[in-house]
Amino acid sequence: MEKLRVVLYGVGAIGSRIAKFLLEKNGVEIVGAIDVAKEKVGKDLGHVLGIDKRLGVTVSDDPDVVLSKVNANIVIHSTTSFLKQVYPQIAKIVEHGVNVVSTCEELSYPYATDPELTKKLDESAKKHKATVLGTGINPGFMMDTLVIAFTGVCQTVERIKATRVVNAAKRRVQFQKKIGVGLAIDEFKEKMEKKSITLHVGIEQSIYLIASALGWELDEIKVESKAIQAKSGQVTGLRQYGRGIKLGKEIITLDLQAYVGAEEEYDSIDIEGVPSIHMKLSPGVHGDLGTVAVIVNSIPKVINAKPGLVTMKDLPVPSATPEDMRTYLKK
Ligand SMILES: NC(=O)c1ccc[n+]([C@@H]2O[C@H](COP(=O)([O-])OP(=O)(O)OC[C@H]3O[C@@H](n4cnc5c(N)ncnc54)[C@H](OP(=O)(O)O)[C@@H]3O)[C@@H](O)[C@H]2O)c1
Repeated sequence: MEKLRVVLYGVGAIGSRIAKFLLEKNGVEIVGAIDVAKEKVGKDLGHVLGIDKRLGVTVSDDPDVVLSKVNANIVIHSTTSFLKQVYPQIAKIVEHGVNVVSTCEELSYPYATDPELTKKLDESAKKHKATVLGTGINPGFMMDTLVIAFTGVCQTVERIKATRVVNAAKRRVQFQKKIGVGLAIDEFKEKMEKKSITLHVGIEQSIYLIASALGWELDEIKVESKAIQAKSGQVTGLRQYGRGIKLGKEIITLDLQAYVGAEEEYDSIDIEGVPSIHMKLSPGVHGDLGTVAVIVNSIPKVINAKPGLVTMKDLPVPSATPEDMRTYLKK
């Protein structure tokens, strides 16, 4: 039986970790790699990953060339966070009839950002018989899919709160940069206003995912981001609240705290309902390890899903993929 054929689109911090994890698994072959970074294009993927092995895959900046020759089962896409930026990239993959799992945060619930563009992508995916999923650890799992799963044991749900506390010192540099670690407070505010730091992207998408799974129509979603500072005044990270409001009542609250020096890292979920639920994981799940896992574990769900754009709530219950990856190739 042929191996599962994967193309990497975006070989940055996360794409590289995904690649290394895939290289450890059985029944999977990396058949192509796409990136625009000058220092990566034209190089062997093994060199770009910093491993002591030639992989025989040259990083290309031309998705058409790669996708038309490698007959891939799936593209792992990990470039940027915003739907409008990734749209042409994902649209191109789909036109080649190839499935996509992407770390793009806004793609985890793209209806929230741009319903027209989402519809176009969904129609194209259906036409070309490809499935598209945006996922990751957050958004994608800890503050949405896991919350949704817990509501499965509730007869009624009145209110939901999820909290995630992360020590940013344990995360990749790219993550620290996007949440403003090391900046002076004025710099943080200026960069936040000019959007030259993205902060955490996806809290709105997580709220939409939960609400749509429960059939809740929210009147409003509010997102508030503020810097967390050390005694010296230097920014150590970020606290972000996402609030889902219906009839003046806050029925979904997501509280993300990501900063250097967080003493207790944890993930908690509180559901007011029948029965009420309190869940706390301490320490919480490591974001970068978890992202790599969620992306790779989603591969079988996506290749075996119906064509079109899907979200985590549309797929079977998430699970690990300890088996040889080719055993999942049914579609
Ligand atoms: N959902 C989640 O839980 C989750 C978790 C982790 C990461 N993410 C997101 O995943 C994305 C990747 O993260 P990262 O830390 O790996 O970022 P990164 O290190 O900056 O890697 C992104 C790579 O993609 C390349 N790239 C950018 N635009 C491209 C394009 N149009 N075509 C091909 N390649 C392109 C970049 O090249 P240049 O450096 O030249 O731009 C870089 O090599 C980010 O948006 C991040 O926020 C989401």
